[in-house]
Amino acid sequence: MSNNSINKASVVNRYLQDRLEPKDYADAFAPSNIALCKYWGKRDGELNLPVNSSLSVSLAHLGSHTKISRSEDGSDKVRLNNKDLPSDSDFSRKVIDFVDLFRRGQKIPLIVDTRNNIPTAAGLASSASGFAALMLALDDFFSLNLDKSVLSAFARMGSGSASRSIYTGFVRWDMGSRADGMDSVASQLDNRWPDLCIGLIKVSSARKPVDSRSGMQRTIETSKLYPSWPEQAGSDLITLEQAIDEQNFAQMGACAEKNAMSMHATMMSAWPPLVYWLPESLAVMQQVWQLREAGVAVYFTMDAGPNLKLLFETASLSVLQTEFPIMEVIQPFSD
Ligand code: PMV
Repeated sequence: MSNNSINKASVVNRYLQDRLEPKDYADAFAPSNIALCKYWGKRDGELNLPVNSSLSVSLAHLGSHTKISRSEDGSDKVRLNNKDLPSDSDFSRKVIDFVDLFRRGQKIPLIVDTRNNIPTAAGLASSASGFAALMLALDDFFSLNLDKSVLSAFARMGSGSASRSIYTGFVRWDMGSRADGMDSVASQLDNRWPDLCIGLIKVSSARKPVDSRSGMQRTIETSKLYPSWPEQAGSDLITLEQAIDEQNFAQMGACAEKNAMSMHATMMSAWPPLVYWLPESLAVMQQVWQLREAGVAVYFTMDAGPNLKLLFETASLSVLQTEFPIMEVIQPFSD
C-alpha cells in the first residue's frame, strides 16, 4: 500500500470555493450496491484507492436517505434510523469527520439524520449507500454543484464502495492511477437487465469480527494468493461487461460467483485466516450448487460477511422462493 502525502482534505480543498454558502436544509438518497466483481485491497488507505477496478449492480430504491439541517443548540447531532447516537460512537465520528472535510473549520453546527430502508433482515452493509447519500446531501447543503465523477471520488474517501452508490444500475469503478485519486471514480453502464433478480439470504446479523478495511490490509500483507487477485479481477471485469452486454446470464452468474469465491480464497489464505463464512453459509452454497445441477440457473455472490446474495432471473423466482423461504428479492431494473 503506497503512502503518499496527499490527504483527503487537500484533495477536497481544490474543489471548494473559499466561502461556503450553506442552506438551511438538504436531503438526498443513494442506493446500496452489490459488487459482481469485488473491490478487495487498497493501494492507498487514506484515499481508499483500490488495487483493482470493480463492477456492481445497485439495489434501486433500497439504500440510505440522509437529511442535513442546522443544529440550533450549537452542537452537531447524528441520528441513525430515528435514534440519536452518542457523539463518540464510531458512526458519529465517521460522519462528522466526513462533514468536516467540507465545513473546513467554519462554525456551522449540523444535524445529520440517516435512515436506511435496506430491510433489516437483509444483512447488508450500509456504508456504501450511507457515504454516497451523505456526499449528495452535503453537495446540496453547501451548494457545491460538483460533477458526478467528483462526487463519486469524494464518496470513495468515506468508503470505497460508496463511489459506486452515486449511480444506479450497473456501475463500474475504475481503479485509476493518479496519486490524488481523481481518476478513481465510478460511472454508470448504459445496460439494463429487466429480468435480473437479487435474492438476499441472511444467515446471521452479528457484527462481523473483522471489518473490510482491516480484512483487506491483512490479506494484502499475509496472503500468498493475494498477488494473483488483481489479474483475476481484471479479467473477470471484462467477462462480466461482455456478459452484461450480451445479456448472457450463465456467463454473468458464473463469473460473479467465481470472483466472490476467489476473493474469499485470498481471505482464507491470510494469517490469521479470515473466514467470514458460517456453516449456514456453506449450506446455502451447497443448495445453490445442487439446484444448478438440477437445471435452475442460480448463482451467488458474497461480501466480507456470512450472508449470500443469489443472482437469478424472474423465470426462476417461484422455484427459488420455495427453496429459500427467508430470501428477500430485489429486482434492480423493475421500474
Ligand atoms: O467499501 P468497503 O470498505 O465497505 O469495502 C467493500 C468490500 C466488499 O464489499 C467486500 C467488496 C465490494 O466491492 O463491495
